[in-house]
This record gives sequence, structure tokens and C-alpha cells, in this order.
Amino acid sequence: MTGYQTSAQAATRRGAEYGTRGLDEAEAHADPLRQFAAWFEDAVAAEPAGGGGEANAMTLATADANARPSARIVLLRGYDERGFVFFTNHESNKGRDLVANPLAALVFHWPLLQRQVRLAGRVTEVAREESEEYWRSRPRGSQLGAWASEQSSVIQGRAVLDERLDALSKAHEDREVPLPSFWGGWRVVPQEIEFWQGRPNRLHDRLRYRLTREDRWVMERLAP
Ligand SMILES: Cc1cc2nc3c(=O)[nH]c(=O)nc-3n(C[C@H](O)[C@H](O)[C@H](O)COP(=O)(O)O)c2cc1C
Repeated sequence: MTGYQTSAQAATRRGAEYGTRGLDEAEAHADPLRQFAAWFEDAVAAEPAGGGGEANAMTLATADANARPSARIVLLRGYDERGFVFFTNHESNKGRDLVANPLAALVFHWPLLQRQVRLAGRVTEVAREESEEYWRSRPRGSQLGAWASEQSSVIQGRAVLDERLDALSKAHEDREVPLPSFWGGWRVVPQEIEFWQGRPNRLHDRLRYRLTREDRWVMERLAP
């Protein structure tokens, strides 16, 4: 084959193999949120000591009103039985997508553990008070940065951002930086959650939980 060799192909040549740790129906929690909590805890524990692990980094896929998909990484800032929360600029591409089409998918990849988790469902906007609370926990620099950036719009150069940040820093000297009306959280309310564990011979384990009309989670095994 001509062209570029991906690191995955290189790894295959080196004889890299998926491990023997499995995920079976008996061991998995009946409640997918508890299963997620266990795996998320493992992923945080497996983060390299030097940093750069970011177990909470997840790919967020959205689609616009014309069903045109797009995907990008965002950070998981909280999860519970209500759903999975991230924060962003509502006027960004993803923000506009979610208003036009309130459906989303999330993917976590934890390569050191040979695990993937996929979620899909509807989104709801996080209550203003909840966004306020999170906003107040952010470093001042990030707060000013959110004000300075019209996320996803074309800008004339890096200097635009630096100048805006400078002006905002001066304007907010000695006062709190308020939560912008264009910034806040979204909650993905999953209707499906799939756990993938790498196994030898590409016969990976896949357990998918699906929410029924009666609001009950059903666990099913999928072929890898
Ligand atoms: C590790 C990582 C974490 C990120 N976290 C966020 C986040 O939490 N919220 C956010 O709006 N963008 C985040 N971004 C930036 C997005 O990937 C993206 O560039 C930005 O949100 C604009 O996306 P959009 O044009 O599709 O709306 C992150 C990027 C990386 C690489």
C-alpha cells in the first residue's frame, strides 16, 4: 500500500495486541451510569503522571439543520443521572448546531486501557445558575478569554485576540468577570451508551445499553 502509514498500522507491524482484560455481562453494572463511573475512575487513575492524559476529553458530534455533521473535542465537566455536561460558546458552530438540531453523540477514547465509550442522545441547555456556578470556578484568564473570542468566527489575525484580551482585562480591573449571555453548558441526555474493551484477535467486547420507552436500560452485546 502506498501513502502514509498511520501509527495504528505501525503498531500492528510491531505486533501490538489487545489485552486479555474483558468486559462481560455478569461483571458490568446494570446501570450504565455506574459502569461509566467505574471506567472513568480507571481512566483518571491511568493518566500519565506528567500530564496530558485528559481522561475527560471527549469527541462531541453534532449536525446542523441540513444534517451536515461535525465533530470536535470538548471537556466533560460533570455527569450524573441527568446527563453529561460540557460548556461552550452558544454562538459557535456547535452551539448553533445544537439549537437547530438538539441531538448529539459523545466518544471517549482511553487508549492506555484499550477502551472506548460512546453515548448518543438529546441535549438540553444547562440551567443558568449551574453555568454561573461553573463560570465562577474558572480561572480569571479563561473567563476573559471566553469574552475575547467570538468562537468559530473568522478573525483577521492573532492580534485581534490579544487586543481584545488586553482591553477586557483593563475594563474588568478590580471587578468580577460576569458570565457572558452567549456562554454556558449543554447536557447530553444519553439514550444509548456503549462500552468497548479491546480484546485479542480483534474480537473486542462491546456492551451497549439502550433506554427503552419504559425508561429502562437494556444491555445488549454487539459484534465487534
Ligand atoms: C483537549 C481539548 C479540549 C477542549 N475543550 C473544549 C470545551 O470544553 N469547550 C469548547 O467550547 N471547546 C473546547 N475545545 C475546542 C473545540 O475542540 C473546538 O475547537 C471549539 O469549541 C470550536 O468548535 P466549533 O467551531 O465546532 O463550535 C477543546 C479542544 C481540545 C483539543
